[in-house]
Amino acid sequence: MDYNTILKDIFTAVKPFSHEGKVADYIPELAKVDPDKFGICLNTIDGDVYAVGDSAERFSIQSISKVFALAMALSVKGETLWSRVGKEPSGTAFNSLVQLEVEHGIPRNPFINAGAMVVADILLTSFDNPADKYLEFLRALSGSKDVCYNEQVALSERETAYLNAAIANMLKYHRNIECDVEEVLRLYFLTCSVEMNCRELAKAFLALADHDELFRYAGIELTRSQIKRLNAIMQTCGFYDEAGEFSYLVGLPGKSGVGGGIAAICPMRYSVAVWSPRLNCKGNSVMGMKALELLTTMTNESIF
Ligand code: DON
Repeated sequence: MDYNTILKDIFTAVKPFSHEGKVADYIPELAKVDPDKFGICLNTIDGDVYAVGDSAERFSIQSISKVFALAMALSVKGETLWSRVGKEPSGTAFNSLVQLEVEHGIPRNPFINAGAMVVADILLTSFDNPADKYLEFLRALSGSKDVCYNEQVALSERETAYLNAAIANMLKYHRNIECDVEEVLRLYFLTCSVEMNCRELAKAFLALADHDELFRYAGIELTRSQIKRLNAIMQTCGFYDEAGEFSYLVGLPGKSGVGGGIAAICPMRYSVAVWSPRLNCKGNSVMGMKALELLTTMTNESIF
């Protein structure tokens, strides 16, 4: 497959969409990003790397962080994790509070904010220093020793986090958070604030694409079956109330973030990360979705 030419063609083909959508500004620090950036990187399971555009520039991974956090929580809790968080698509926004109240504090899935907070609580009770352990894991998976948190982004999010604080308090009320609410929010915002570029993200996601030893090398034990299930949850829940649309247009398990990143995998073939900060009304990158739709159409490689 000539991924090099395909990525270059995608780069040209997405240009007409470059003014669609809006950068996330509910986290004040994120509003400062240049909206016109676009980068994409694809890693094959044979170790080849193809990239175009701003693929070496780091951005805020935001909700993509939830995939790595879930991998860590699954490795320590296994199936017992699912007594505290569901695995059904929510069909609601990532920060919706509605279902959480009706469903007595059990979040629909680990990728909506409520679910990720339960996962953060699990990490806090499972590791001596979860923030360090999380970063260590990401550095090993991505092969970049200087992947870091952006404290300013984490603090900026906390200052305006009225809805997320309500979600955390609702979870605590229903006894689905063991730790202090502020401690859970702190770890949740910190993990969201990690900055990576498309090259690093694609490399980190390769562990989900080849079902191999890559997680073990990064210090996390996951069985093939657990990796398969993690991918299944990305497929059904990775794009919130646009999970059906992403599945329909792209046909890959993936995860988006409000920083404009999307990472996805084609099992036993490749991982891919794309970044463009302008988001659609569901909080997913406009050009990112378009680029991945073109990728699976041009390569004829998707899970369907
Ligand atoms: O909690 C938030 O709102 C952000 N830290 C993460 C949201 C996000 O990335 C949703 N993804 N599309």
